[in-house]
Amino acid sequence: MTAPREHFSSRLGFILAAAGSAVGIGNLVGFPVNAAKNGGGAFLLVYAIFVFLICLPVMMAEMAIGRKTQKEPVGAYKALNNGGNGWNIAGLLGVLTPFMIAVFYMVLTVWIFGYIVITLGGGLDYLAGPVAFGEFINSPWIFAAMIIVAAIVYFILVAGVKEGIEKAAKTLMPTLFVMLVLMVIFVLTRENAMAGLRFFIIPDFDKITPSVINGALSQAFFSLSLGMGILITYGSYISNKTDIVGSAKLVAITDTAVAFTAGLMILPAVFSFNPDVNPQELSDSSVSLIFTFLPKIFLALQTSLGYVAASGIAAFFFILVFFAAITSLVSIIEVPVSYLVTEKCHSRKKALRILMMTAGVLTLFASVSFGMVSFFTEFTSYAGGTRSFFDVVYDVFYDTILPLNGLLLCLFVSYRWKKHNLSEELATGNDGYKGSLSEKYINFSLSTFIPVILLGIFLNTVAVKFF
Ligand code: PHE
Repeated sequence: MTAPREHFSSRLGFILAAAGSAVGIGNLVGFPVNAAKNGGGAFLLVYAIFVFLICLPVMMAEMAIGRKTQKEPVGAYKALNNGGNGWNIAGLLGVLTPFMIAVFYMVLTVWIFGYIVITLGGGLDYLAGPVAFGEFINSPWIFAAMIIVAAIVYFILVAGVKEGIEKAAKTLMPTLFVMLVLMVIFVLTRENAMAGLRFFIIPDFDKITPSVINGALSQAFFSLSLGMGILITYGSYISNKTDIVGSAKLVAITDTAVAFTAGLMILPAVFSFNPDVNPQELSDSSVSLIFTFLPKIFLALQTSLGYVAASGIAAFFFILVFFAAITSLVSIIEVPVSYLVTEKCHSRKKALRILMMTAGVLTLFASVSFGMVSFFTEFTSYAGGTRSFFDVVYDVFYDTILPLNGLLLCLFVSYRWKKHNLSEELATGNDGYKGSLSEKYINFSLSTFIPVILLGIFLNTVAVKFF
C-alpha cells in the first residue's frame, strides 16, 4: 500500500513553491545581463510577450496533466495515453531532463555556497582577484561545499511536500523578496546608479535580431521552469479547488517581476560601485558574471564604505542568489523523487537516498570537469571543440532537450489527450473558464504556433550547438 499523495496545504503554498522553482539564478543574473546587452526595454517587451503568449499556455498544460493524473511525468503520460506506449519517451525525458539539469545546477549552487563562506571569512578581495574562480572550482573545498548543499536539499525534500517544499518556499521566498527590495533601494540610492538604470531600460529596437528573439524565448522558457517536468509534478500536488489558470498567471508575473527587479539591482550596481567599468565587460554568461565580475564590483565599494561593509553587501547578495537556487534545486530533484515513489514504490527516504547518491556522483564528475580530472575535462568533442562533461550536460539537456520536451507536451495535450479534456481540467476550480477568450487562445496556441516555434528553437539549437 502506498501512502496517499501529499498535497500543498493551500493555493498560496502552491504558488510560492512554483514561484520558488521559477525564480532562480536565471532571473537574478541571466535576465538582467541578457536584457542590458540585447536592447534593454525592447528586450523586456519581447520577453514579456513570450512569457504571456507562449510560455503561459505551456505552463498551464503542464499543471493540468499533473493534477488530472496526480502523477509525475512518466506516470502522467502513461495514464493519459490509455495504456499505450507511444508517449513513454516523453514521460521518460520529463524525468531524465530534470535529473541531469539538477546535476548542472547543483554545481553552480555549490559554487555560490562557497562564495558566501569565502566572503564572510574576509576573502572578498581574493574573490575579486584574477585567479580565484579557477582556483576555487578546482579545490577540494568544493567537495565539502557539495556535501553541505546536498544535505540542505535532502532535509528539505525528506520532510515531504507540505512540511518540506512548501515550508521552505514560504520562508525563503518572502525573505528573498525583502532582500531583493533592500538591495535595490541600496543600489538605486548610490551615485551614478541612474546610468546603469538607463543602460538596463532604454529600449533599442535595432538590437532585436532573430538570435536575440530566440535567446529571449529560451530564457523565458527556462526561467519559468518549463520542459523539466517540475510543473507536472507540482500540479499533481494540488487539489481540484485550485484555479490553475489564475495560479499560473501569478507564478509568471512573480517570475518576470523578480527578473525585472534584479535588473534594477545588477546594472545600477555595476555602474555605480565601479564607475570606470566598461559595460561591454558584462559577460555573456551568467556564470562568469556572478563568479568573476560581480566580486570586483562589490570590492569597489570599499573605497566609500570600507572593506567590511563591502564584504557584508557581497555576502548578502550571494545569500540572496543561494536562496533562489535552493528552491529551484529542490523543485527539480522532486521530479525524479516523485517518480521513484509513485512508479517504483520506494519510500520517500529511499528514493532520496538513491537520487542523492546517483546525482551526487554525476555532480562530482561535472565538478571535476574544469581541469581537475582530464577524462571529464576533455570528455568529448563536437562542433570543432573539446567539451567537458559539464558542457555536455549543459548543451544536451539544458539547451536542447528543454524545447523538445515543451514541443512533445503541446502535441500530446492537443492531439492525444485532446483539447476538450484540457479545457475540462482548466475549468475545474475556475468557473468562468469555459467559453472564455483564455480558453480559446490556450487551445488554439498549444495546437498550432507554439509547437511550431518550439520545433524551430529545437532544430536551430541542434544546428548551432552540434554541427
Ligand atoms: N527557473 C530557474 C532559473 O531561472 C531555473 C531552474 C529551475 C533550474 C529549476 C533548475 C531547476 O534559474
